[in-house]
Amino acid sequence: MAAIQCIGVLTSGGDAPGMNAAIRAVTRSAIYHGLNVKGIYRGYKGLISGEIKEFQTQSVSNIIQQGGTILRTARCQEFMTEEGRKIAYENMVKEGIDALVVLGGDGTFTGAKIFANEFNIPVVGVPCTIDNDIASTDYTLGFDTAINTVLEMVDRLRDTSQSHDRCSVVEVMGRRAGYIALNAGIACGATSILIPEVEYDFQRDVIDRMKRTQMTGKKHFIIVVAEGIGGVDEMAKRIEAETGVETRATVLGHVQRGGHPTVRDRVTASLMGYKAVELLK
Ligand code: F6P
Repeated sequence: MAAIQCIGVLTSGGDAPGMNAAIRAVTRSAIYHGLNVKGIYRGYKGLISGEIKEFQTQSVSNIIQQGGTILRTARCQEFMTEEGRKIAYENMVKEGIDALVVLGGDGTFTGAKIFANEFNIPVVGVPCTIDNDIASTDYTLGFDTAINTVLEMVDRLRDTSQSHDRCSVVEVMGRRAGYIALNAGIACGATSILIPEVEYDFQRDVIDRMKRTQMTGKKHFIIVVAEGIGGVDEMAKRIEAETGVETRATVLGHVQRGGHPTVRDRVTASLMGYKAVELLK
């Protein structure tokens, strides 16, 4: 295979804080090595529609601190079809892109693997998802920022729960994984944490535990529930009925995906982006 001359970079799937820092590192490392870089917009969708722009060093200035992704992102059905991937490949050839760095999660990597094998293209994936649910990596970009955001939100909920002697049942993101719930739950001192990876008995692990701590004089409670379990409204009703503690359910939602990346996300993104280019070279 001829030496790589032009790298395409894209972000796909759910955005994650740290993606911009990684785009910056890929772009600047590639330029440092004398390679051309092209930014592909809206993930695989942009590869199919040809939404592609030449990147310079300045294209990625002032973005290391920004959440989201300057390249935008999308989940692309068309890329799941052979015809869609063929158009994507033809656009790559037209643009002179001979390797890809894809930033994303599970779905992004599944698409990348099929595409790489189908057309014999070098592709490196940079794991980015707040869920931290990618195999074969210790860490996915965005996770640290997300758990710190959750922590801040739950601390706020605690203020109001404490003032009212209430229980807060908080649903956090994570898709089918419980990493966000487990880590943020421990850090905020939750009474109970429910995650899909561990079997639980609601009576024993939530109701009875609350009743036991009630006897010590505790009057407010935080229960953290991973979205892979869900059902926080029903849980809140049951807690209130069985413990007599007024209870509110809160679904934190997409607020968890935004915000300035933490130091850990910026540094890891910089290292991963640099490494992706090294691997392609
Ligand atoms: O994978 C990141 C994530 O935020 C999950 O935690 C959540 O289940 C999902 O994406 C939400 O997806 P969407 O942005 O399509 O609603």
